[in-house]
Amino acid sequence: MNIVRTKEEISEICRKWHSENLTVAIVPTMGYLHEGHLSLIRLARQNADRVVVSVFVNPTQFGPGEDFETYPRDEARDTDLCRKEGADAVFMPAPAEMYRSDKSVSLMENRLSKVMCGMSRPTHFNGVLTVVCKLFNITGADCAVFGMKDAQQLAIIKRMVRDLDMPIKIIPAPIVRESDGLAKSSRNTYLSAEERKDAVCLRRALDIAESEWKSGEKNPDEIIHKMADLIKSVRSADIDYISAVDSDTLEAVKELRPGTLVALAVKIGTTRLIDNTVLS
Ligand code: PAF
Repeated sequence: MNIVRTKEEISEICRKWHSENLTVAIVPTMGYLHEGHLSLIRLARQNADRVVVSVFVNPTQFGPGEDFETYPRDEARDTDLCRKEGADAVFMPAPAEMYRSDKSVSLMENRLSKVMCGMSRPTHFNGVLTVVCKLFNITGADCAVFGMKDAQQLAIIKRMVRDLDMPIKIIPAPIVRESDGLAKSSRNTYLSAEERKDAVCLRRALDIAESEWKSGEKNPDEIIHKMADLIKSVRSADIDYISAVDSDTLEAVKELRPGTLVALAVKIGTTRLIDNTVLS
């Protein structure tokens, strides 16, 4: 497995694979890999001949006062896991390699990024789109795998690919959960033992949405209300938002229907967690 730190080298490796008629998948990550990321690498393997995993804590997607400095990092463990999972290359650039000090061009999304997580993280998705676009350009990948836990990120990346005619296929990967239902996230490591127990309330709230939907509830406000009641009963939990939206446009739905995305962000202590379900 190649461990690569420069854009030039990873581009060259991908160009060589393409010249041999091999397809390339990119799995963009911010490292501190967990089982959720490993499932993305496995899915990438099934969809392409060669797999590049990028490990880059992208400074431009963190707002002031967010956790850029403290975001967990462990390069040695990440490379080890990528090797075991059969990745062909890990791209681990330093911030100065990815961004020139006099950079003056970046991407901006004007609709889907204004709702949900975008309300409390107004610059986040522009930072995500800019780095993801750069990774697509640097590798020339044929496909890219993104987790469905970040449902808004996935919708916005799909919109970028559509609106900018990018020649890449986006492959969504199902959410991977702990045994008690908490969605896997690198940020779960911030939780104290007590908060870790409380954090299950996100999944419990989504269970309510699913069971209400199955018993015939069509009114989004009703299920949002019930989900909120459950979360408010948890001491360390503070709701950022609970939304029922169309999973492509992220517009609020007036009536629940199959395919509606029910998503929430909740602060457990100081840790902001997100989760979602798509009604079936
Ligand atoms: O989902 C993430 O980990 C990040 O937002 C991504 C897509 C790797 C961009 O930095």
